[in-house]
Amino acid sequence: MQQAEKKNPLIDEHGRLIHKLRLQLTDTCNFRCFYCMPRQFKFLPSSQLLKANEFIEICSALVGLGIDEIRISGGEPTLRADLKEIVRGLSNLPVERLGITTNGYFLADKIAFLSQTKCRNINISLDSLNKKRFRMITKSDSFDTVYRAILKAKEKGLRVKVNVVALRGLNDDEVFDYIDFSAKHKIEVRFLELMKIGPCCCKHNGLFVPAQELIQRIEEREELIPQSVNNDSTAFNFKTSSGGKIGFIASESQPFCNFCSRLRLSATGGLRACLMSDAGISLRGRNKSEYPAILRSVIAMKPVERIEYIRQPMYQIGG
Ligand code: 5AD
Ligand code: SF4
Repeated sequence: MQQAEKKNPLIDEHGRLIHKLRLQLTDTCNFRCFYCMPRQFKFLPSSQLLKANEFIEICSALVGLGIDEIRISGGEPTLRADLKEIVRGLSNLPVERLGITTNGYFLADKIAFLSQTKCRNINISLDSLNKKRFRMITKSDSFDTVYRAILKAKEKGLRVKVNVVALRGLNDDEVFDYIDFSAKHKIEVRFLELMKIGPCCCKHNGLFVPAQELIQRIEEREELIPQSVNNDSTAFNFKTSSGGKIGFIASESQPFCNFCSRLRLSATGGLRACLMSDAGISLRGRNKSEYPAILRSVIAMKPVERIEYIRQPMYQIGG
């Protein structure tokens, strides 16, 4: 059933249909991507995080109120020892889509499990196809582990997308390698603009690459055939003449706040209105009868115009 046909869709005063939820299972991560992790960082004690049953109960209530798509994120969500319990619980909810965003390090041995759940939309970050550069960006020596997990997930029938944060001088010369990778393995690759978040909030340090620049560069060699997407999609997608499938998430140069359909639930139960603002209300311990009013309040906190930057790093917000 389309969200618009549902009885009480969550529509804000600007006409935005709110139906997606980002679920941050933990703020902890085993990678140290330089654009995400500040030099000094501290993770929350696990005792402060929501328990599996709390996530499931909160999500169950939110699904009853209009959320129909959930993406699990972190930190690194596969670090949760109770990931299976959470995914199973979410899979039992009447959601149209369930997905997970991961750095891929612990993915390989979860593929068989995920294949049997609704959680089949797997986005994996891979910021370079070159081992050394991958280590430089993530501070993790695990390129092979992640690369193999990506191919295995695809091979086992999961819907896999690869996310690449475009970084000038570090990986922006790899666009054609990614297109070849996409064509060869039939995996969609999405180039993300570096956002002014966390360590990159105030200065991009010359690392920012606008999506349009990548597109122009690609078009010098290949034809890009636009693909249609939902109006609240954050990506614009193309097929390439060489058989690749690529997308661009131009959050900086072409923000999509007008069509934003998302809320976020933090690992400690905070319902948050926007990636770029910590405004929100905690759902932890609240009675379900209070949810409709809380939802309305949080949705009213969603900004209409793009907030320029946020000091809080991505691992804390939930990717
Ligand atoms: N800008 C763009 N993307 C970012 N990510 C983390 N920090 C940033 C940033 N400042 C990405 C990760 C991952 C996704 C969850 O968000 O690389 O792909
Ligand atoms: Fe971890 Fe993702 Fe942040 Fe990298 S970007 S440090 S993988 S949370």
